[in-house]
Amino acid sequence: MKVLVTGGAGFIGANFVHQTLSERPGTQVTVLDKLTYAGNPASLDDVRDQIVFVQGDVADAEVVDPLVADADLVVHFAAESHNDNSLLDPSPFIQTNLVGTFTLLEAVRRHHVRYHHISTDEVYGDLELDDPSRFTPTTPYNPSSPYSSSKAGSDLLVRAWVRSFGVEATISNCSNNYGPYQHVEKFIPRQITNLIDGVHPKLYGAGENVRDWIHVLDHNRAVWAIIDKGRIGETYLIGADGEMNNKHVVEMILELMGYATNDYKHVNDRPGHDMRYAIDSSKLRAETGWAPQFTSFRDGLADTIEWYRNNEAWWRPQKEATETKYSKQGQ
Ligand code: NAD
Ligand code: DAU
Repeated sequence: MKVLVTGGAGFIGANFVHQTLSERPGTQVTVLDKLTYAGNPASLDDVRDQIVFVQGDVADAEVVDPLVADADLVVHFAAESHNDNSLLDPSPFIQTNLVGTFTLLEAVRRHHVRYHHISTDEVYGDLELDDPSRFTPTTPYNPSSPYSSSKAGSDLLVRAWVRSFGVEATISNCSNNYGPYQHVEKFIPRQITNLIDGVHPKLYGAGENVRDWIHVLDHNRAVWAIIDKGRIGETYLIGADGEMNNKHVVEMILELMGYATNDYKHVNDRPGHDMRYAIDSSKLRAETGWAPQFTSFRDGLADTIEWYRNNEAWWRPQKEATETKYSKQGQ
């Protein structure tokens, strides 16, 4: 099978490429990635001779068309992915997440290629802390930020291309991922690398916001389960019952790294900050048999801390610019 992986130099995509090569021998992988600030070619260094790597834009039809024509499957990870950036400048989010998805959909339509769309639980908006409900595939879309609204729009494009043109597509909406190769702008790697540098972790606002954490390897195994067993046109929510508030996550990182658990700072909150995400993944589990293998968040977090300690050369080049940007926003 020939798989075209967009965004394969990013966090989840790079893990997907590694997993696919090691767990699905015989699969030919082509990566299409623009190598924005978030794409790191070093994430693919150890598999470079096993893949085809194309640097290019998913919104560029001339680049996309021949790659899709040559594939049996497209797995679309490429996106502008960071909420804070979308609040500073939404324009690349519209271009990549909407126009890029449109460009891929037109190509898979022309060439009759199976398509899997990677999306986020943020399309559903947020929940109150005391709300007993969780997101399901029928929860109405209610995105809050330029990032999540651009992802919501891209999901709706996929649904329309399935219904109107018979494109063979599935969609997955996953909760917050953690694990190796995640950019230091994101919450967990930012705090780990701050502590390696002797800097206090930074909590937005009161730190009460809840995220539903899943290990990136579990996310990607679910993606393959959907590709193998999911029904065309369906949406699957991916989550591992990992709800935890940000303060608790920071306390756990501090403890695992040998610091006092109150050794953090509160900084400016994110405008429009979603309060809580929570996933009901029962449809995915029932239809595909998928279940998470990382059942202890604490153990997965300890492994992740170890990875950042052992891979400073991977993250160090991005650290200073990331922190300079945050400090301008009082974060
Ligand atoms: P990331 O920011 O780490 O990586 C994105 C990758 O896409 C980078 O390699 C970047 O160079 C590439 N890219 C960006 N614009 C491009 C363009 N126009 N053309 C080609 N390549 C381009 O993102 P991530 O965290 O790995 O997220 C991957 C996908 O998963 C995204 O679609 C995101 O919405 C979704 N998602 C992420 C999470 C999470 O917790 N990180 C959770 C659910 C869903
Ligand atoms: O829910 C899935 C989404 O998870 C994905 O679609 C996004 O691509 C991904 O970036 C992530 O979005 P979040 O905005 O939830 O992730 P982030 O890592 O930016 O922040 C996680 C939480 O931590 C959020 O409540 C904001 C808070 N935070 C973040 C940073 C960077 C802090 O308290 N301090 C920080 O320094």
